[in-house]
Amino acid sequence: MADAPKRTVTLTDDQNGQSWKLPVLDGTEGPSVIDIRKLYGETGYFTHDPGFTSTSSCESKITFIDGDKGILLHRGYPIDQLANKSDFLEVAYLLQYGELPNPTEKQDWVKHITYHTMVHEQLSSFFSGFRRDAHPMAIMCGVVGALSAFYHDSTDIHDPVQREVACHRLIAKMPTLAAMAYKYSIGQPFVYPQNNLSYAENFLYMCYSVPAEPYKINPVLAKAMDKIFILHADHEQNASTSTVRLASSSGANPFACIAAGITSLWGPAHGGANEAVLKMLMEIGSKDKIPEIVRRAKDKSDSFRLMGFGHRVYKNYDPRAKVMQETCREVLAELGIKNDPLLETAMELERVALQDDYFVQKKLYPNVDFYSGIILRAMGFPMSMFTVLFALARTAGWVSHWQEQFGEGGEQKIGRPRQLYTGATERDFVPVDKRK
Ligand code: ACO
Repeated sequence: MADAPKRTVTLTDDQNGQSWKLPVLDGTEGPSVIDIRKLYGETGYFTHDPGFTSTSSCESKITFIDGDKGILLHRGYPIDQLANKSDFLEVAYLLQYGELPNPTEKQDWVKHITYHTMVHEQLSSFFSGFRRDAHPMAIMCGVVGALSAFYHDSTDIHDPVQREVACHRLIAKMPTLAAMAYKYSIGQPFVYPQNNLSYAENFLYMCYSVPAEPYKINPVLAKAMDKIFILHADHEQNASTSTVRLASSSGANPFACIAAGITSLWGPAHGGANEAVLKMLMEIGSKDKIPEIVRRAKDKSDSFRLMGFGHRVYKNYDPRAKVMQETCREVLAELGIKNDPLLETAMELERVALQDDYFVQKKLYPNVDFYSGIILRAMGFPMSMFTVLFALARTAGWVSHWQEQFGEGGEQKIGRPRQLYTGATERDFVPVDKRK
């Protein structure tokens, strides 16, 4: 819990001079918050903050972001250290339990997760209900929600053991479901997980192996995949995580809550941006078109935005984008891709934008999605799978936030924002024959 308030701020109604003292709560890092939980009861006013630009929605110990300095910490550990020195399952453990696992804890955790990698066989028939050309994110929304029907023995949210099993199942089964969505879209048979492989290796194996041929995992690509998962594992109270928390506040089961998170992530302003970036880079095609695309991004009468640029919280270079750019080079070098036109276009676009007054003034920098699409494409993933991979990785964060709501300092109160009503005032019903 945050410390008891040591100071207050005063809110004054200029109309009648009445004033109220509001407690200020301090966290361990970042701006303090004004506690307005009793505001309506005491003043009769709501606060108005569409898009939550100035609102803290919960207390959390999982992730800290300093958007001005470009800092991202998971449980206190900087993202670049985790990406370069840890592995995804270890980060998932850290997010969930608050500390890095010791060797025994790590072994047990990996065992628990790998134990759950298979999905109920009946789920395969569930897939065949979808069109082959369905967007894999549409499939993921359906099949992850459907897990509630298949794993009913881990849906009692009041039982801590069931909650933990649900988290293990979600982290373990997401790669299997994501790979199945991919295989289904290309008409190849589903590949069962191999529990002697690492999390990232297993995912690549399920995506790219076929029963007719042996498949050799490329360790450089597996490492890159793992890093991409780490970079997407959590990001504080973003739209999809807040969606998971809000869905959960009503007491909904974990599988339904994560399915809600997936739907929120799908949008191009959030997880769908990596797909949108690649489409944009392909449309640009060559460096000489960059000035025109930058002009359009700045034009207020044009709805076009530079995809992969800007962030609600970062007003500096996204620290994940730095690691992603390095990973991009490693993957392209490993695959022998020299002078990739998309990478060259991206780097030139970044250079031009970062020198442009519009982007400088508005503090718009490349975000995590700017380079990820180039890597994923080079690794052989179709664009439609990019957001699915994001959802797979973000599941580690979603389940940690979901669990946090049940622990100390967690908020089990149903999320129920209010509104500034600007519609019609009360009026009498008019029968249809009397209406003009
Ligand atoms: N290109 C051009 N202008 C932009 C961009 C952009 N990518 N992003 C923001 N701006 C401008 C806006 O037009 C606005 O200008 P104004 O003040 O003159 O009206 C100003 O910068 C602030 O933008 P907002 O939309 O108010 O900022 P917000 O915090 O609401 O949006 C967002 C953040 C959605 C990420 C936005 O920057 C954007 O649309 N970026 C492109 C999509 C993208 O890359 N999304 C991925 C986000 S990271 C993630 O989810 C993993």
